[in-house]
Amino acid sequence: MEHETPESALTCTVFSCTPAGECREQAVVGRSTHAAMTKDQQRYVNDEMLDVLYRHRTRPADSGKLVEVVSNDYLDLGGHPAIAAAQQEADERFGNGNRMAAPHLFADDPQHRLEERIATWLGVEAVVLTQSGWTANFGLMQVLSQGTTVYRDETAHSSLTDGALAARAEMHDVRHNDPGHLAELLRGHGPGLVVLNAVYNIRGDLTPLAEMVETAELHGGTVVLDESHSLGALGPAGRGLAAQLTLGHRVAHRTASLAKAFTARAGIVATSRAAAEQIRYRARSACFASTLLPRDIAGIDATLTLIEHADQARTRLADRTHTLRTGLDQQGWGVGPGAHIASLVHTTLPRLARSVTALDAAAVRASAFVLPVPRQGHLPLRICLHASLTDHDLDRILDATALLRTEPA
Ligand SMILES: Cc1ncc(COP(=O)(O)O)c(C=O)c1O
Repeated sequence: MEHETPESALTCTVFSCTPAGECREQAVVGRSTHAAMTKDQQRYVNDEMLDVLYRHRTRPADSGKLVEVVSNDYLDLGGHPAIAAAQQEADERFGNGNRMAAPHLFADDPQHRLEERIATWLGVEAVVLTQSGWTANFGLMQVLSQGTTVYRDETAHSSLTDGALAARAEMHDVRHNDPGHLAELLRGHGPGLVVLNAVYNIRGDLTPLAEMVETAELHGGTVVLDESHSLGALGPAGRGLAAQLTLGHRVAHRTASLAKAFTARAGIVATSRAAAEQIRYRARSACFASTLLPRDIAGIDATLTLIEHADQARTRLADRTHTLRTGLDQQGWGVGPGAHIASLVHTTLPRLARSVTALDAAAVRASAFVLPVPRQGHLPLRICLHASLTDHDLDRILDATALLRTEPA
């Protein structure tokens, strides 16, 4: 069996930690009861480390002091009264509605009217609303990649991979942000889907979209672009990276989680009319799961109006981004250019755990990204910016990250 591991290979590294966050790595040899352990399971973060990185993290006593850089509410719209009012009105009119899987909705359902509005906003033929960004990517890839070769940037979001796996597609990993490698793979294996993130969700760097699109076009590639972290936050009226670079017409399929700048529980696929029909009626995530609630639809509709008029917040977010990235680079974190997400990359789990504990003590809440399986030597502590962080907040973050640089390796 593909995932079964011979007993001789059952040496793995685990991490033992004290409640204070003192951790060390330890080699452990598996017993025979572990014989069916998958390779992934061997590399899961162990219980003690979960305690330090996740379970035992608590709110500081003075929660007014807390600087939160965990959420993806980049424009700080989550608490906007216009969204709450729209949701409340939908609750009063429809309650939780007559929920069902989306294929059963009437043609004039508010969900379809909202899809048309988003399609007009983005200048595409069709939009499909989904229950989450995960289901947008899964559904799109499941229906599009059947019998097709998939070229996936090695750090593109896992949900894109999961959809391609469900379709049993042949998949090739493209070295991160490397158009030359993409060209080489396309020449070697033929036309297929080229799968990218606009903004990479861990390090916040942007895809070199113009080069990737050009390379794909030259060699018969069709681009799928995940705009989860750019929709709302970048581009004219928040239309995202492809729109910012006037490349929207050359990107065949765009997806996004609406749980970021839109602060909703939903996702979209922006695509051709033909592909939208495939996703609506063939994607397993559309056929076998119920769709959004009336309050979700009303909330997203109200949020879109706010996002269209949020230039000031987008400018402020860009300014916050510049200050943080410059500050982190001056401290030697090597984050480089990119968008409103930056990660402090650690090389060992104990070192990452010490950083989490130190930032918590400084009342700066960032997130460790190691689940479900940590990537050896690349263990990020992620900082997500939002437009209303003050200069003082940024100083607090940079003071705390400067302290981490003085830690022993
Ligand atoms: C790039 C990207 N795509 C897709 C998703 C999935 O979105 P959702 O949380 O709405 O399922 C995420 C969420 O973490 C993401 O970062």
